[in-house]
Amino acid sequence: MPKILVTGGAGYIGSITAHHLLRSGYEVVVADDLSRGYRHNVAPERLHVVRLQDTDGLTRLLEGIDAVVHFAAYIAVGESTREPELYFSNNIGGTLSLLEAMARAGVLRLVFSSTAAVYGDPQKVPIPEDAPFAPLSPYGESKAIIERILGELDRYRGLRSVALRYFNACGAEPEAGLGEEHQPETHLIPLLLRAATSGQPIQIFGNDYPTPDGTCIRDYIHVRDLALAHVAALEHLMAGGGSDAFNVGTGAGHSVMEVLRAVEEETARKVPFTSAPRREGDSPILVADSRKLQRRLGWRPQRSELRQIVQDAWRFELH
Ligand code: UFG
Repeated sequence: MPKILVTGGAGYIGSITAHHLLRSGYEVVVADDLSRGYRHNVAPERLHVVRLQDTDGLTRLLEGIDAVVHFAAYIAVGESTREPELYFSNNIGGTLSLLEAMARAGVLRLVFSSTAAVYGDPQKVPIPEDAPFAPLSPYGESKAIIERILGELDRYRGLRSVALRYFNACGAEPEAGLGEEHQPETHLIPLLLRAATSGQPIQIFGNDYPTPDGTCIRDYIHVRDLALAHVAALEHLMAGGGSDAFNVGTGAGHSVMEVLRAVEEETARKVPFTSAPRREGDSPILVADSRKLQRRLGWRPQRSELRQIVQDAWRFELH
């Protein structure tokens, strides 16, 4: 079976993807510097604690590897606006080091974690993949720049890559003990669940957006469906498929208040909230047109119904 290097495999989406790669029969090696991921998310025999900037270390790790799935990156939009250098150095500098190591080791297949944030505030919703890049944050810009670099490396190095542009990853794999544990947590669903248990109100950022209830609309994709999109992308590359980019979302949007109500139903508790001003950099509506991924790679969202997402996230919070 092919042997895959998963960078950032101790993080939320990385660990759950590594779990599904193993279930699909792949051999998995994880590289993570544990700066944002957790040792408990990876079996000790698979974990290599290494920084992305350690090109020599990565080159050694890449011996015998057939493909790389590259998650390792900083992901907080707000933090990236306060510390852009950190984001450019880690997300761009770190990825360049990995790409250099891959070139040295002769590894020519890559699945790359990109983001809906590359589109900024798009003109057309649902967003197709050919919408222009117009990121609103250094985080989104760091991912857009890497996607462009991958285009050049396809042409001049024969590197075949698939960029997956995630919409709002959420949910968990409670049976595997894997789920969202960001420090500090900024994502809506875990914060709603915590407000439900603690009784401390969550701030709802903006109630005057041009949406039916005035709150932002997002495309929430269950992390299992997201993980399986990586397996499909890898299969495409292993079968000799060419470079491409795909949105990973459901095509359906939910407002912040709809998600809040879903959490109230699932937990059978009230979620206290206060109305706060809009958060900088938030687009009113981000919904994926993900038909390309469905058509080309035969992927389908299977667990991304909002109720199911909230149920799995809740079970993880309770574990
Ligand atoms: N929200 C609140 N209160 C909170 C937290 C969030 O009202 O305490 C709102 C946000 O304003 C937004 C929605 O809930 O309208 C979702 O916010 P998240 O922070 O959960 O997710 P984002 O949509 O901001 O960002 C996510 C990923 C990014 C990615 C982006 C692309 O975290 O990495 O999706 O769509 F770039």
